[in-house]
Amino acid sequence: MHRLYTRSPIAKIMWGILSSLVGIIVLLMVLVSENPRMEAQTLNWEGRSIENGAKLFADNCATCHGPNGQGLLGRAPGLNSYYFFTETGRIKDVGWVGTLEDYVLLTIAAGRPSKTESQWPEVMPTWDGKFGGPMRGDQVVDLTAYVMNWEASALAQTPDEDPFQPFDDVILPAEFQNTAYLLLSEEEQAAALEEYRARNIRSPQEIWQSEACFACHNLEVNQVDYAGQNGPNFADLHERADSRVAGMTAEEYVYESIVSPRAFVVETYEEVGQMPENFAEKLSEDEIQALVAWLLDPDREVTEEE
Ligand code: HEC
Ligand code: HEC
Repeated sequence: MHRLYTRSPIAKIMWGILSSLVGIIVLLMVLVSENPRMEAQTLNWEGRSIENGAKLFADNCATCHGPNGQGLLGRAPGLNSYYFFTETGRIKDVGWVGTLEDYVLLTIAAGRPSKTESQWPEVMPTWDGKFGGPMRGDQVVDLTAYVMNWEASALAQTPDEDPFQPFDDVILPAEFQNTAYLLLSEEEQAAALEEYRARNIRSPQEIWQSEACFACHNLEVNQVDYAGQNGPNFADLHERADSRVAGMTAEEYVYESIVSPRAFVVETYEEVGQMPENFAEKLSEDEIQALVAWLLDPDREVTEEE
C-alpha cells in the first residue's frame, strides 16, 4: 500500500504539483512582506539622513540660523517657521514655482553669494562642492531632509511663536510678512493692505527714488531714443504723451505705461523690455494718480521741498 503511493506515476505527479504549489505560496508570502520591509528600510534610511543633517546643521548652520533653525535676529532668517513652510508664505513671496524642498536644496547647495545689497550682515554661504563649497552632495541632501523635517511642527506654530524675520526683497511690506497676516481671509488681507497704504502714501519724488525709476528714466533730458539706454527720458514727456496711442489722453497713457508697461511699448525698447511689471501691486491708486500728474507737469519739482 505504502509503496503504491510513492511509486505510482500518478502519485509522483501529485507530489510534483504539491511541491510546486508550496513553492509558489512561499514566494507570494515573501513578495507580500517585501513592501513593508522596503518601506521600513526607507524610513530607516530617511531617519539616518535626518540625523546626519541634524549634526551637520549644529556644526555649520546654527551659528547663523539658530540652534533649532528659529533664526537669529539681524543675522539670518528663521527656517523653522510657519511663514517659511506654508505655501502662501515665503515661497509665494519670492515667486518660486517649484517645491519648498527644491528651494531649500538649491539654497543650501549654491548659497546666495552674489547679493550686493543684503539686509543681512553676512551672506548665505555656498555649501556644495560642485559650486565651490565644502560639502558633498549627500550631505546637502541630508541637511535638506533635516530642514524639511521641521514642517509639521512649524505649521503648528501660532503667529506669536513664528520666529520669521521679514525680508527686504519682498513686495509685501515687512508689516505683512508674518503668520498673523497669512491667517487672515483674502478680504481681510486686502483691507489691511489698503489701510496700510492709506497710512503710507509716498510722494511722487519718493517713489521716483525708492522704486528706482531714475535708474532707467531721466527727468531733465528730452527724449532721445537709442538702444542701450534703459528707457525714454522724461523732460518732454508732457509734449508727446497724448500722441503715443490714438484715442488715449496723456494721463491715460502714462497711467497705463506704469501699471501695464507691455500694453504699449515705445519703439527702440521692444527688445529691452525692462520696465518692471509689478508697480500696480507696489503702488496704491492714489500714489499712481499723483505720479502721473507729476510726470506730466512741465514745472514739476524734481526734489521735494522741505
Ligand atoms: C554666515 C551665516 C550663515 C550660515 C553659516 C548659514 N546661513 Fe543660511 N542664510 C544666511 C542668510 C543671511 C540668509 C538669507 C539670505 C538672503 O536672502 O539674502 C540665509 C538663507 C538660507 C535659506 C533660505 C531662506 C529663505 O527664506 O529664503 C536656507 C534654506 C538656509 N539659509 C539654510 C542654511 C543651512 C542648511 C546652513 C548650513 C549648512 C546655512 N544656511 C548656513 C546666513 C547663513
Ligand atoms: C529697469 C528700467 C525701468 C524702470 C526701473 C522703470 N522704467 Fe519706465 N520704462 C522703461 C522702458 C524700457 C520703457 C519703454 C518701453 C515701454 O514702453 O514699456 C519705459 C516706459 C515708461 C513710460 C512711457 C514713456 C514714454 O515715453 O512713452 C513711463 C511713463 C514710465 N516708463 C514710467 C516709469 C515710472 C514712473 C517708473 C518708476 C515707478 C519706471 N518707469 C521705472 C524702463 C524702466
